[in-house]
Amino acid sequence: MPRKIILDVDPGVDDAIALILALYHPGIEVVAVTSVGGNVPPNVASRNVSGILGFLDPPRWPRVGVSSLPDDGLPVQGRYGLSVDCLEAAQLKVAELRSPHPAEKVICEEVRTAPGQVTIVALGPLTNIARAFRRDPELPTLVAKLFISGGTVAAGGNVTAAAEFNMYCDPKAAREVFRSSSTKFLVPLDVTNRVMLTFDHLVNLPSEATRVGWFLRTILPPAFLSYRQRLGIEGIHIHDCVTLMAALHPELFEYEEMAGDVETGGELCRGATVFDRRRVPAWQRNIAVARKMDTSRVVDGLLASLERAAWEAGPMLPQ
Ligand code: RIB
Ligand code: CA
Repeated sequence: MPRKIILDVDPGVDDAIALILALYHPGIEVVAVTSVGGNVPPNVASRNVSGILGFLDPPRWPRVGVSSLPDDGLPVQGRYGLSVDCLEAAQLKVAELRSPHPAEKVICEEVRTAPGQVTIVALGPLTNIARAFRRDPELPTLVAKLFISGGTVAAGGNVTAAAEFNMYCDPKAAREVFRSSSTKFLVPLDVTNRVMLTFDHLVNLPSEATRVGWFLRTILPPAFLSYRQRLGIEGIHIHDCVTLMAALHPELFEYEEMAGDVETGGELCRGATVFDRRRVPAWQRNIAVARKMDTSRVVDGLLASLERAAWEAGPMLPQ
């Protein structure tokens, strides 16, 4: 029986690629896709989710939950390496949702429909997850697993010296989720920084005669250009694709049970993920943190899944 997945995304290039991988992965059923502000403002994230689903027209449509601003607003416009919403290049047509449901409502309903069977893969700020846990206090114990993309253990931050982007955008939500009783798996920058999409990958993507190939070849060049101009890097990170692989292929990752929390204040350290590694920790262990990864098998798996998605999604339709 396919595993049930809820994807919470702030698309964002790497979120968009992860969404494609999940929609066409044979072993899972994406029961819902909920959008959250982060890489792009909440309304743009919701529009991008609808646009991607409308363009791909997957065989099984997930429910959609729309996003709203975090309680304290978004502290940044766009991600550290990307100065643009790369999905704009695809000019996706968006069918306005007749009755948009809030993301947290959809998360609660889908988990309640299948208690203990739904894995949530959070690929953006944790605003929606925290709100769902507030809305239904039993929910943390009803979620099978919660995979979280972001944070750092020993790696430096990417949006500030101390903080990774998703934690920085809504640190209060992140702290609530870290302190919740859900079964949490964190895939931090220490691990996701090891995977890059390079120009070699770019030229070997599925054909642009396929919907997936055309979409990737449209949104990726602006991302590559932005990384080169802003970071001087010949390639791009795909953090969220690595986190999705951790959820789908746990055998490729090794975890350490740790006691973690999130700094919510401070001028320098807002959003920093902090772990108690004292000889006699005072904090309770509350999260499994990915520390090792079989990088080559993760990359091979990602690329093979993109090929499969291109085959499943089929050809570009005549414009
Ligand atoms: O720090 C990387 C994370 O921030 C990824 O999820 C990326 O999509 C952005 O949301
Ligand atoms: Ca993301």
